[in-house]
Amino acid sequence: MNKKLIVGNWKMNPGTLNEARKIARNVRRAALTLVHTEAIICPPSVFLVPLIPRKKARHFSIGAQSVYFAESGAYTGLISTAMLHDVGVEYVIVGHSEERQRGDTDEMVSKKVRAVIEAGMTPIVCVGESSRDDVGATHFGALREQIRNSFENVPKKAAGNIVLAYEPVWAIGAKDSMVPEQIYEMSLFVKKVFSDVFSQESAVKISVLYGGAVNSRNAADIVSIGKVDGLLVGRESLNTVSFVELLKAVDAVK
Ligand code: PGA
Repeated sequence: MNKKLIVGNWKMNPGTLNEARKIARNVRRAALTLVHTEAIICPPSVFLVPLIPRKKARHFSIGAQSVYFAESGAYTGLISTAMLHDVGVEYVIVGHSEERQRGDTDEMVSKKVRAVIEAGMTPIVCVGESSRDDVGATHFGALREQIRNSFENVPKKAAGNIVLAYEPVWAIGAKDSMVPEQIYEMSLFVKKVFSDVFSQESAVKISVLYGGAVNSRNAADIVSIGKVDGLLVGRESLNTVSFVELLKAVDAVK
């Protein structure tokens, strides 16, 4: 069984380093009690260094929300994979729909995936349809294309180092998540496409997460009925009490 991965995507929050330290400290403490679950927090890049534990902490890792694929050079404002790796970042979110909306194409996503793996970190690659229709005429095709293109030129042997986050865009920031039965169906579809791109063997091993309006109340059902390997959590990851409850609820799923 893959370890369950719970990724807290803090986005452009919280407003101060002090608050960031508080949330990180509480999550790190709670993670000590987890058995099958890893908590990965992804703070804004300015807070990464002060939040990375000096010694590897049990069931707790730090991820970045974004990266650029070039090695170095005249890219004002951007951060490279080597920089992230050097300060101790282990995971990097790539292709979040909010970054795609700001201009990241599938091609850029695939370059980033490759760069993150080459630097020795694990990309958490976000994919998801922006809308759905009842018969699945468009969303399956769109998602298949997005997955294929997001891994274009990513070497086959890299498959074992990839985490896929299925996030239907319409559920991000919404009131309700996708229903767990549908999440199960979509996670199977996502794995099938991944196996076509890489290999059947790698699709069996890959961790597929779900993201979009996850909270401490729906998390356990999404993991058990949706049969996903973890969750990508936005808003609820900033509320320490709820996030710790969520971690414990998922850890209790057999
Ligand atoms: P949400 O965000 O949990 O606030 O819906 C999820 C995400 O954007 O990863």
